Amino acid sequence: MPVLNPLIPTVTDHLASATDTSSDHSTAFKQLISQSKEQVQAALGRWLPSEDSTPNTLHRAMRYSALSGGKYVRPLLVYATGKALGVSATALDGPACAIELIHSYSLVHDDLPAMDDDDLRRGKPTCHKAFDEATAVLVGDALQTLAFHILATDLSIVVAAEQRIQMVATLAHASGSLGMAGGQAIDLEADGKGTDFTLASLQYMHSQKTGALIRASVRLGALSAPDCDKALLTRLDQYAADIGLAFQIRDDILDIEASTDVLGKSQGADIARNKPTYPALLGLDGAKQKAQQLHESALENLTTLGRRADSLRWISEYIVQRPN
Ligand code: IPE
Ligand code: IPE
Ligand code: MG
Ligand code: MG
Ligand code: MG
Repeated sequence: MPVLNPLIPTVTDHLASATDTSSDHSTAFKQLISQSKEQVQAALGRWLPSEDSTPNTLHRAMRYSALSGGKYVRPLLVYATGKALGVSATALDGPACAIELIHSYSLVHDDLPAMDDDDLRRGKPTCHKAFDEATAVLVGDALQTLAFHILATDLSIVVAAEQRIQMVATLAHASGSLGMAGGQAIDLEADGKGTDFTLASLQYMHSQKTGALIRASVRLGALSAPDCDKALLTRLDQYAADIGLAFQIRDDILDIEASTDVLGKSQGADIARNKPTYPALLGLDGAKQKAQQLHESALENLTTLGRRADSLRWISEYIVQRPN
């Protein structure tokens, strides 16, 4: 079980100081991102089986994929939402790990030759390149089940059993055929369709393949609070739906505008496969405007939360401006 040193500041301490009126928002937010990343990486490091345990190659490949230095945006959302509702960092580590493990698994499978067939991920060879395809399939299977193991057993989660079950159901729904996996299925069918796709279908696909896990991140943070209010959960869910769609729109834009070096994954992959994307349907400016509108709508959903939601506001801004 994770044990935190009380002398080391936690993510929630940073979040608390980050809401001071006098603070430099940009510096505080950078600190928050790096602290959140360190915290979830440490927790993941404890939950993931060691490379010395059998089967060694599978465990090495799992650690390679889950600890390989992504942006850890979904854990950041878990911590920020939980903190806004007064939850301790320790109680948020498990949900933060669970969502990141599902996300990492989705990327390992997304990169497989049968799917996007990509060689580069987070600046390193993709899992099936560094290991082999069969191992990459199993890495996905094992990361996914570890996520549910954590939600079911983590003793640091402080809510009642019924609410813990809601957390499990939230993650299952967001990961399955009515969430991420379903969105990925639509994405595969859409391969090669380019502009031959309606905006409504594109929005549905993006909201499922990427939005569902982003929404689950916020929901898991909220469900980590023993007394989470239903009306508040609805507002937070609307915020999360907006930033979830914006996140994939930004990903589509970066596929065109950013370099492979900065992205850490192959630039131009969507155009090479003639994928329907927001820039393909609306043009680059149209896609940027849409992302900005979603950011503004996300902020409106936070109005009633006051200053305690400042970090969620920064995350929304970061999502539409991020460089990678
Ligand atoms: C990439 O996700 C895939 C999408 C859902 C758009 P991220 O951009 O969060 O990837 P990492 O985890 O930071 O590498
Ligand atoms: C992936 O979308 C969404 C997932 C559920 C993994 P992309 O295929 O656009 O993600 P990248 O660009 O490879 O990271
Ligand atoms: Mg894909
Ligand atoms: Mg891909
Ligand atoms: Mg992409």
